[in-house]
Amino acid sequence: MRVKSLSLTFANGLKLFDGIDFSVDEGERVAIIGRNGAGKSTLLRAALGMIPRSKSEGEWLYGEPMHNISGRKRRRLLCQVGFIHQRHNLVPRATALTNVIHGAMVRYHPSFRVWNQALAPAHLRDEGMELLERVGLADRALNRASALSGGQSQRVAIARALMQRPKLVIADEPVASLDPVAGEEVMELFSRLVAEQNSTLIFVSHHLPHAVRYADRILGVRDGRIDLDCAADAKSIEELGNIYGDNDDDDD
Ligand SMILES: Nc1ncnc2c1ncn2[C@@H]1O[C@H](COP(=O)(O)OP(=O)(O)OP(=O)(O)O)[C@@H](O)[C@H]1O
Ligand SMILES: [Mg+2]
Repeated sequence: MRVKSLSLTFANGLKLFDGIDFSVDEGERVAIIGRNGAGKSTLLRAALGMIPRSKSEGEWLYGEPMHNISGRKRRRLLCQVGFIHQRHNLVPRATALTNVIHGAMVRYHPSFRVWNQALAPAHLRDEGMELLERVGLADRALNRASALSGGQSQRVAIARALMQRPKLVIADEPVASLDPVAGEEVMELFSRLVAEQNSTLIFVSHHLPHAVRYADRILGVRDGRIDLDCAADAKSIEELGNIYGDNDDDDD
């Protein structure tokens, strides 16, 4: 992923970014840190061309110019990205298993649709069940997503993203709604599953120990810029916390 001179001003006049440059190489594990409202979520979406930016020399994904390709080619590229959103966006009325199996849709022809786990091919059901088992939710497979807790929903969203077998996994605060113990477990598991799939990982975290432990490289977003780009072990958690920590919110 590569972003060159990205500037973004919202319609309401808020100027968020002013000439951001960064790139992430294949196989890297990158944590993005920064205070609430610094622009982490927006940066990731803008990098994938998901929101209009005011000025930019371009965004590239796997060498393809996202700013200058057809809609169909763009969609095909985005199929390689498993995006775990800050709000997990499950289909509330569908079961946990159906939500996970939906992740596989992008691996098939655009006309291929799996609306319901009961209609899905057996191998996809098995694969979905295995992922649910790994995130500790096999017993909830047939519960509707709307009946799951925030943390359980987040695990389903992780399983769904991995079901895509994405080359690049982008996770916006993947364990934000989990209690500290579950957060640690799920982050551990998540990073292991991503590594097993040989995927590149970019994740946003407010929990600095996670950034240090599960990434190789840390990017810090502040004042509309990336003002930190270093190896994950280059700075202490205290140093990072002084600049990028949220005073009121330290539990990712
Ligand atoms: N569509 C929009 N119009 C105007 N302002 C917006 C819009 N989307 C986001 N913002 C503002 O841009 C800033 C960055 O938002 P963003 O969600 O990227 O922050 P963040 O770093 O992800 O924060 P958090 O840690 O709370 O998730 C915020 O001040 C937000 O209010
Ligand atoms: Mg955010």
